[in-house]
Amino acid sequence: WPAQAALIHEINQLKRERDAVILAHNYMTPEIFHGVGDYVGDSLGLAKEAARSKAKVIVQAGVHFMAETSKILSPEKTVLIPDLRAGCSLAASITGADVRLIKQRYPGLPVVTYVNTTADVKAETDICCTSANAVQVVEWAAKEWGVDRVILIPDEFLARNVAAQTNVGIIAWKGRCEVHERFTADDIADMRAAYPGAEILAHPECPEDVLAASDFAGSTAAMIDHVTARKPKQVVMITECSMASNVAGDVPGVQFIGPCNLCPHMKRITLQNIRDCLVHMQYEVTVPEDVAERGRLAVQRMVELPP
Ligand code: 13P
Ligand code: SF4
Repeated sequence: WPAQAALIHEINQLKRERDAVILAHNYMTPEIFHGVGDYVGDSLGLAKEAARSKAKVIVQAGVHFMAETSKILSPEKTVLIPDLRAGCSLAASITGADVRLIKQRYPGLPVVTYVNTTADVKAETDICCTSANAVQVVEWAAKEWGVDRVILIPDEFLARNVAAQTNVGIIAWKGRCEVHERFTADDIADMRAAYPGAEILAHPECPEDVLAASDFAGSTAAMIDHVTARKPKQVVMITECSMASNVAGDVPGVQFIGPCNLCPHMKRITLQNIRDCLVHMQYEVTVPEDVAERGRLAVQRMVELPP
């Protein structure tokens, strides 16, 4: 702990010297989330903050697609990620060339893309979405294009979960989040048997039967809001492990019980490499301007939709 406290102190000083802000995803470990994050939130919140921030430098305490999104929205800023290997199984599941083929197969349909994608994929996209706004974005796109089906890629489970909540037809892809696909309906049944009064919250990247067996489904920010508002005695968060630790610090009196899965990509970000990132101004994330320009419209459309 003294070593961590010293790193936190050093990072907070470096941020002032560099005119930097740290945008930290809800899956960061508590010492990053509570100790050095200037803005903490879900993917949607981080994208909005990247667009709003006045700092010269953005340090993305999250994964690579989030840093690319920040760069797309703020081309004039220096965007750094502490470890370039922090990827995402969903972003790796599809390329820009794949999207071009899908568009050839379904001409005239709008392409809605989860933000968990590379800049190349965003460049082929009409509007982005996150798990917090996917239903709203799909319905907006169908209305705007005057069609009854939309392409929603790449998360197969998010697509199925959205399809269950709208009359708009969904054309999906086969990408999966390696963290959320591992939860099963049996996990939920085990929790119900062991803790009958517990509220069970699940992320929309989970399989449909997991969500059907849960009490609430929502993005990481929606889960935090739900627990903060209702303060249930016991909570199960069917998502990445750091979520429960982070919320526990803010909502005393709530008991958080398992199961949870670790995201190996998010866990590449540490206090030590955040410090090194600010000292050496590494690793810069750039997006070619022609790609960024095409992706920007898709991300901006999402960010500018009414809440
Ligand atoms: P949200 O924070 O948007 O819920 O996304 C979860 C996630 O898996 C991000 O990688
Ligand atoms: Fe990607 Fe899943 Fe990790 Fe999020 S939790 S970065 S969606 S692999």
